[in-house]
Amino acid sequence: MTSVIVAIDGSAASGKGTLAKKIAAHFDFAYLDSGSLYRAIGVSVLRKGGDPTNESQAVAAAKTLDIAQFTPEDLRTEAAGVAASQVAAIPSVRAAILQFQRDFAHTPPQGKRGAVLDGRDIGTVVCPDAAAKIFVSASLEVRVGRRIKELRGKGEAVIEARVRADLEARDARDSSRAVAPMKPAEDAWQIDTSALDPDQVFDLSKIFVADKIAKAAV
Ligand code: CDP
Repeated sequence: MTSVIVAIDGSAASGKGTLAKKIAAHFDFAYLDSGSLYRAIGVSVLRKGGDPTNESQAVAAAKTLDIAQFTPEDLRTEAAGVAASQVAAIPSVRAAILQFQRDFAHTPPQGKRGAVLDGRDIGTVVCPDAAAKIFVSASLEVRVGRRIKELRGKGEAVIEARVRADLEARDARDSSRAVAPMKPAEDAWQIDTSALDPDQVFDLSKIFVADKIAKAAV
């Protein structure tokens, strides 16, 4: 049976991860946070005292990636986010993990009948054949607020100006890179979550995804 693929892309701290987890749970689909792969590659370079912008170091980390070596706490720091976007700008790093993501989407683990992947290029590059594509955005102000809340909730000391600068730099790098830049797929449904809470975003998206799944099954 063909897997039903839901692609959720969007900017940093836009709420795409929260939405993707809710959609996966609701439809009982497998979930892959593709950003965690780039974060893990970035953190493994940093752990070796390396430079995430160095191609050979980053590719070596991508090719030997063992995601089990990282806890969510290791990956969700702002430093990990910055390193992630540095390694993610290197085409050979992206190429090294492309097939893993496609295999997850097309043959989800545990025999699930569908998969939700979130990231920057899922609808455009990894799974252009996805049944449903959503692009999530929010204003910079709102995203800075959300990221500060997330980091403080984890006990990380944060400086607002630093978080803002990191998000801006990450957005600029993610949208301007030559390979797989962050952009909505032509057939993506776009949702601005600036004035919406997570349940509202989920309720609207669930209707869209259910409709797409029904059409894909016809
Ligand atoms: O949660 P947040 O949006 O802050 O970040 P993330 O989704 O964990 O992604 C971290 C970084 O990985 C991003 O800034 C991108 O540079 C990169 N990334 C990417 O290039 N392509 C993806 N499919 C997912 C993440």
